[in-house]
Amino acid sequence: MSPHPSVAAVNETIVGRTAERHELAEAYASSQAEFVTVYGRRRVGKTFLVVNSLQGRKGAYFETTGIKNGSLRVQLERFSQELGRGFFKGAPLQVSGNWMRALQLLTDAIATLPKSQKIVLFFDELPWLATPKSGILSALEYFWNRHWVNDRRIKLVVCGSSVDSKAGVPGFHCCARC
Ligand SMILES: Nc1ncnc2c1ncn2[C@@H]1O[C@H](COP(=O)(O)OP(=O)(O)OP(=O)(O)O)[C@@H](O)[C@H]1O
Ligand SMILES: [Mg+2]
Repeated sequence: MSPHPSVAAVNETIVGRTAERHELAEAYASSQAEFVTVYGRRRVGKTFLVVNSLQGRKGAYFETTGIKNGSLRVQLERFSQELGRGFFKGAPLQVSGNWMRALQLLTDAIATLPKSQKIVLFFDELPWLATPKSGILSALEYFWNRHWVNDRRIKLVVCGSSVDSKAGVPGFHCCARC
């Protein structure tokens, strides 16, 4: 799977974020499946952290990003494009009807990868994907619990911005093994 060409962050040097980088590196090095959440205020460097810490490593890297105010169809279309680009040499895939189907396609694609290869699955801007009727959260939960948690190659990273500053959400948070 090739590096994600749309993310330029890897060309810049990362400054600080030592603890968070360490957490991500540990999750990557771990011999079990890992589920990492990264959340914080807008523009604090969440995506930059994940891309700089995980992209370009030896294993496979799959990234999909939510689109602000995107309809389910548009979000799934983007996901399908990323899937095609990541696993099928850019071949367009048919737009999936729902997230259960979409994540099944991802799971099928993962099954074709070597048993020894680590696999990063990065869902950026998850809150934009997780609109009330999208079903993505329950689909992610299902695939994590039913399949991915038992696959030691998988490092699932979800990222989003916390908008409710009154809730006392810290500026930045990275939590491995959630
Ligand atoms: N640790 C860092 N070291 C150097 N530059 C950084 C760092 N973190 C962020 N940046 C710079 O800030 C820019 C914005 O970071 P980034 O897009 O990752 O923020 P974000 O939290 O994902 O934003 P958004 O909430 O819009 O998704 C990066 O493209 C990069 O240029
Ligand atoms: Mg971001």
